[in-house]
Amino acid sequence: MFEHTVVVSGAASGLGHAVMRRLAAKGARVAAVDVANIHATDLPDECTAHACDVTDAKAVQDVIDRIGPISALVTCAGIAPGAKLVGKSGPHDADLFAKVMAVNVMGTFHLMSTCAAAMQRNAPNDKGQRGVIVTTSSVAAFEGQIGQIAYAASKGAVAAMTLPAARELARDGIRVASIAPGVFDTPMMQAMPEEVQTSIGATIPFPPRLGDPDDFAALVEHILTNTTLNGEVIRLDGALRMAAK
Ligand SMILES: NC(=O)c1ccc[n+]([C@@H]2O[C@H](COP(=O)([O-])OP(=O)(O)OC[C@H]3O[C@@H](n4cnc5c(N)ncnc54)[C@H](O)[C@@H]3O)[C@@H](O)[C@H]2O)c1
Repeated sequence: MFEHTVVVSGAASGLGHAVMRRLAAKGARVAAVDVANIHATDLPDECTAHACDVTDAKAVQDVIDRIGPISALVTCAGIAPGAKLVGKSGPHDADLFAKVMAVNVMGTFHLMSTCAAAMQRNAPNDKGQRGVIVTTSSVAAFEGQIGQIAYAASKGAVAAMTLPAARELARDGIRVASIAPGVFDTPMMQAMPEEVQTSIGATIPFPPRLGDPDDFAALVEHILTNTTLNGEVIRLDGALRMAAK
């Protein structure tokens, strides 16, 4: 699918894992980046595992330098702890807010900037393209629920980086797009009680269930191959519009 390596962050679990598996099945060489251990048995042939906390700018630079030439980046690493602006025990923990921003915004930013710099060194392909970046926002960027103040802020920032990055990198033939998923069946969601998962699934117009991570991976694959798709945040949500809570 690509001449060089595809970097996938958050590949140990959920959406990132589905992306790694799908792209590897299409013949891509995937560098799986995660703070959590990626089990050797989960790693498809031709894929490599790279332990890295994406909040650590130097660690990200070291990993990207080690990987070598990069054709595409897919950022899926993220966290979603819930807390209200004013909770039962008082104001929102500022450290928790900063942590969500560190992982979801700074982590995405470090990967985007280091990978874009690496892609700039690629020779352009026959369409003039040197690379593609796909980030993961959330419908919470647009309809953040009560208890999602930090998460919604972080995913709004990820969505907002898309257009300026696409505009800046256009001269290098590097495309940038973001996916705003609705609710997907991943360990992040499976942490909730089953009845909550079922009731959330039932609020999705169609299909009325939690999203299949491979559908997310299919959209990533499409973005990576559609040369005209650039600078856009794409909702993938079964027509879900999240309620206040
Ligand atoms: N599942 C959903 O319904 C849903 C909806 C909208 C957006 N998203 C977003 O999609 C992305 C993937 O979510 P998921 O559901 O697959 O979650 P998940 O918890 O299954 O996977 C997230 C992965 O990110 C990794 N990670 C967390 N912090 C990291 C760090 N500092 N450095 C490196 N890796 C780190 C985790 O180890 C984990 O493997 C997240 O950004 C999430 O916010 C998910």
